[in-house]
Amino acid sequence: MRQFLIVIRLILLLSVDISAAPAPAPAPAVRTEVDPELTAGYSEGDMIISAEQRNGLRPDSYRWPNRTVYYYINSNIDPPHREQILVGLRKIEASSCLTFKEAVKDQKYYVNITSEPGGCFTAVGFQNRVQQMNLQNYPLDEGCYRMGTIMHEMLHALGFYHEQSSADRDEYVRIAYENIQEGKEHNFDKFDIDTVDNFDQEYDYGSVLHYSPYGFSKNGGMTIVPFKEGAEKQMGQRLQMSQRDINKLNIMYKCPQQV
Ligand SMILES: *[C@@H]1O[C@H](CO)[C@@H](O)[C@H](O)[C@H]1NC(C)=O
Ligand SMILES: *[C@@H]1O[C@H](CO)[C@@H](O)[C@H](O)[C@H]1NC(C)=O
Ligand SMILES: [Zn+2]
Repeated sequence: MRQFLIVIRLILLLSVDISAAPAPAPAPAVRTEVDPELTAGYSEGDMIISAEQRNGLRPDSYRWPNRTVYYYINSNIDPPHREQILVGLRKIEASSCLTFKEAVKDQKYYVNITSEPGGCFTAVGFQNRVQQMNLQNYPLDEGCYRMGTIMHEMLHALGFYHEQSSADRDEYVRIAYENIQEGKEHNFDKFDIDTVDNFDQEYDYGSVLHYSPYGFSKNGGMTIVPFKEGAEKQMGQRLQMSQRDINKLNIMYKCPQQV
């Protein structure tokens, strides 16, 4: 993570201090978004959502049957990256009642984990067919191969949206449209409570599914401004699932014993 931040800073030519507290920024004119979760160009950056799905994520049909997730890791992914992915899956297993199984021949539905260019992205929720999850190649612990990003993408595949799209988000954050790159505003849509369930968990700045405060910023200013002081330091962490991420996962999949 630390290394990743350093790389970002260099790319930004030292003009933006992304880790600084509310900077009264003499802002540079352009900030190029480099987070591969955001640059993939899908809905909210990394989620492939079909039209009918937008209205229907709540239904149980988007849950993996029998709490079993099948996956296939493409052979062009080298052993260290493969192991990094597997560690992520094992962490989700350890925090829930889900089981990940390698898809064998004749398996009709599974997550097809690829490592193509184009950033990190995935289909949201169970699709009852082969569904892609792409993790563009990066050094371990950077970009799509941050442990939290692997879990973030898999949580999408399990049926979760971004934390900041939850129905009650306006009580916790302000979307600073004046700082968002033109044409990227749709990445900050919120969904009503009929579409996205928060499983009675309070809004979670530290969710692995929360954007960083600077996502899609055009000027180095925050695009998501938390009302809670200091919360910007938690937002966008990609190390691990938060306790509330774990709670939601357990509730969504009706785990008999909650972790
Ligand atoms: C459901 O999942 C459990 C645990 O992975 C497995 O033992 C069982 O065989 C599965 N049942 C069906 C019907 O697939
Ligand atoms: C996985 O997806 C990629 C990209 O769509 C495709 O080329 C590949 O054949 C798929 N592999 C499997 C095993 O489904
Ligand atoms: Zn995402």
